[in-house]
Amino acid sequence: MSDTATGLGEGAGWGEFVTTEVRDGIAWITLNRPDKRNAINPGIVREMTAVLDAMEGDDAAEVLVITGAGDAFSAGQDLKEYFRETENWPPHERDRMFAANAAWQWRRLMYYRKPTIAMVNGWCFGGAFQVLVGCDLAIAAEDATFGLSEINWGIIPAGIVTKSVSMVMPQRDAMYYIMTGETFSGTQAAEMRLVNKAVPLDQLRDEVTRLAETLRKKNPHVLRACKTAYHHVRQMGWEQSLEYLMAKSDATKFRDPERGDEKGMSQFIDQKKFKPGLGAYDRES
Ligand code: COA
Repeated sequence: MSDTATGLGEGAGWGEFVTTEVRDGIAWITLNRPDKRNAINPGIVREMTAVLDAMEGDDAAEVLVITGAGDAFSAGQDLKEYFRETENWPPHERDRMFAANAAWQWRRLMYYRKPTIAMVNGWCFGGAFQVLVGCDLAIAAEDATFGLSEINWGIIPAGIVTKSVSMVMPQRDAMYYIMTGETFSGTQAAEMRLVNKAVPLDQLRDEVTRLAETLRKKNPHVLRACKTAYHHVRQMGWEQSLEYLMAKSDATKFRDPERGDEKGMSQFIDQKKFKPGLGAYDRES
């Protein structure tokens, strides 16, 4: 399927393994190898890179949702096409492809200019956890199945999977599933905060749409600064965090094209039009 709002799609470098649809401000990005449970092959790496490049500059795409076709979110890296069949590639080409995979799956997503939501509709294994954690937020179907299956086939959760889960899962849960390779459900994933929420599958798209709508109402410039600040501050001490956050706050205000803080303050204090505690200021007025 091509991108309905922009006309991008196959001609722009995707469409075989990844499909996109931009509608009402939401870019629905679907890993599309359902017969292979959306296992991530070099084709998905290539196409997701192109999609993320294009969506970043597409004003019609305000919030990105990443999901999978059929009954899988993604069965992780493709053991055959991503690992085995690349073993004989020239080393620099294999390294480049692995680096491109790391880029789209977490580094790029984590600092992406727009909010991102993982919509976990089904199977989610191994390398798919990088995408899951790379997205800002995640909503799963209650009966989706998650697994850190690496131990089951004799490797450690590499790429950056172990780091990813250590950032969001409690230690006992992370260690348990890394070491046993047992599966767990979307409901359990929500309980251990790997995802924000789990809902019945038939409500998943509506739930994600509601969340995306909430994000669309916020000032996108400030939203971008919020997520960047969060990721940097997690790696800093208290003193550096204070310095960084105050400077980041000033820079964000200074560069905000819609002068959100002035609008918000005026709508609350002078016009008494809204309550910041209960929702966003009116961006249109
Ligand atoms: N890599 C390569 N191929 C994969 C794959 C993966 N990660 N996951 C699924 N496939 C392929 C299967 O080999 C099969 O291909 P075939 O039709 O040519 O035989 C096809 O996708 C369907 O898989 P199948 O196992 O028949 O589907 P299922 O619905 O019965 O089971 C899973 C789904 C996800 C439980 C199972 O496919 C699985 O365990 N996949 C591997 C998950 C994993 O360990 N991922 C970690 C990678 S780091």
